[in-house]
Amino acid sequence: MDITPTNPVYPMPTIGQPAPAFKAVTTQGPIDFPAQYQGSWVILFSHPADFTPVCTSEFMTFATLEGKFNEANCKLVGLSIDGLFSHIAWLRALKEKIDYKGMKNVEVKFPLIEDITMDVARKYGMIQTESATKAVRAVFVIDPKGIIRTIIYYPASLGRNFDELYRVVIALQTADAFQVATPADWRPGDDVIVPPAGSCGVAKERVESPKDMTCHDWYFCTKKLDKETVMKAILKKK
Ligand code: BEZ
Repeated sequence: MDITPTNPVYPMPTIGQPAPAFKAVTTQGPIDFPAQYQGSWVILFSHPADFTPVCTSEFMTFATLEGKFNEANCKLVGLSIDGLFSHIAWLRALKEKIDYKGMKNVEVKFPLIEDITMDVARKYGMIQTESATKAVRAVFVIDPKGIIRTIIYYPASLGRNFDELYRVVIALQTADAFQVATPADWRPGDDVIVPPAGSCGVAKERVESPKDMTCHDWYFCTKKLDKETVMKAILKKK
C-alpha cells in the first residue's frame, strides 16, 4: 500500500496516551473527538460493517444499555468504514425490522461515525491483518481527560460482552476514585487491592499486624469496599 500524505501510517495506539484527535461526520451530526467529550468517559468502538448479523446484535444490545453507561458518565461512540447513508439505512432497519432477544424498536441514539477514508480507523489501529477493508471490533475506553485507559480488540466473528465493558468502566472509575486496583473478575462489592507496601517497615506491618485489610503476602493485600460506596461515588460524578 502506498504511503502518501492522504494515506499516512499511524503508530498503534497505546494505553496511557491521549486519544488520537479527529473530526468526522456521524449519524448525530459532526463530531470533534475527543475534545467535545472532555469531562465524560467515552467508549469509542468499531464494527466491521453495517447490515451484518453480529454487528446488528451488538448495536441492539449497546443501544439498550446506553442509559446505564450514561448513568456512569460514559458516552458511546460507534464507527465503521461505511458511509453515512449506509449507517442511516442500517439504524432505521434495526428499529423498524429487527426483533432479537426481546429487543425491538431499538433506536440507536449515540453517534455512529462514517469513516469511508479509513483515516480514523487507521489512527486507532482498527484495520488489522484480518481484513484490509473492514475494521475489527475495537473498544477504546477513554477517560474524562481524553486519555486512553483500556483497549480491547476482537475479531469479526466474536460479538462483545457488554456486561464486561460496563465492568471495565466501573472498575477504572473505582481505581481512580479510591486509589485501589481491582482483582480478577472483580465486581462492585468485591474486595479491592490496596497499593503495595512501599517500604520494608510497611511490608513487615502488613504481614504481622495488617490494619483494615487482609494480606495474602506483604505485596498482596485486599480491603472491603462495599457496592453502595462504589456506585455512589461513580453515579454522583455524572
Ligand atoms: C457480522 O457482524 O456478522 C460480521 C461482520 C463482518 C464479518 C463477519 C461477520
